[in-house]
Amino acid sequence: MPAPRPGYVLVAEKEIAARVAELGRAITRDYGETNLVLVGVLQGAIPFVADLMRALPIDLTVDFLRASSYGSGTTSSGTVHLAADLSVDIADRHVLIVDDIVDTGHTLAALKRELEARRPRSVRTCVLLDKTGRREIEVTIDYVGFTIPNVFVVGYGLDYDGLYRNLPHVATLEGI
Ligand code: XMP
Repeated sequence: MPAPRPGYVLVAEKEIAARVAELGRAITRDYGETNLVLVGVLQGAIPFVADLMRALPIDLTVDFLRASSYGSGTTSSGTVHLAADLSVDIADRHVLIVDDIVDTGHTLAALKRELEARRPRSVRTCVLLDKTGRREIEVTIDYVGFTIPNVFVVGYGLDYDGLYRNLPHVATLEGI
């Protein structure tokens, strides 16, 4: 069987750029003068964080964490294993978690809970893609790039078996 390959373009490079600029304006408006910590979730959020941070003309710190790839990275008790933790202390800081995609919601809900336990001033969430139809747990997404149907997607940070993160757009995956 041939390996799965990217299919049609679901979100084009230009659409992503326009939406990131809009999100940047909304986040800038909401946070104003407050000094923000952008927390990117490795590895999928790398392109999104890189673009979004440059759309935010405010004081901010960027840091990353990695949810363990063991299982889904979350446990049934709702905790998350961190394969790599933040290097900054977020106590008393305003935190914005930035991720590529929310699917069932378990990963983001657990990450939010984990960071909230560190006594930040606030924790909000921002995702590029939201598969609303797949949600299993309620989690507030404060900033959403695009709502997409329940199809597996690759590109702009999202991978299949480690491949296709470098595509400048979001595409479907054919042949799975
Ligand atoms: P949950 O279900 O916890 O999962 O919201 C979020 C994580 O699942 C992965 N995921 C995908 N990865 N294409 C991908 O490359 C997809 O269509 C997709 N849907 C879910 C992703 O790792 C995300 O962080």
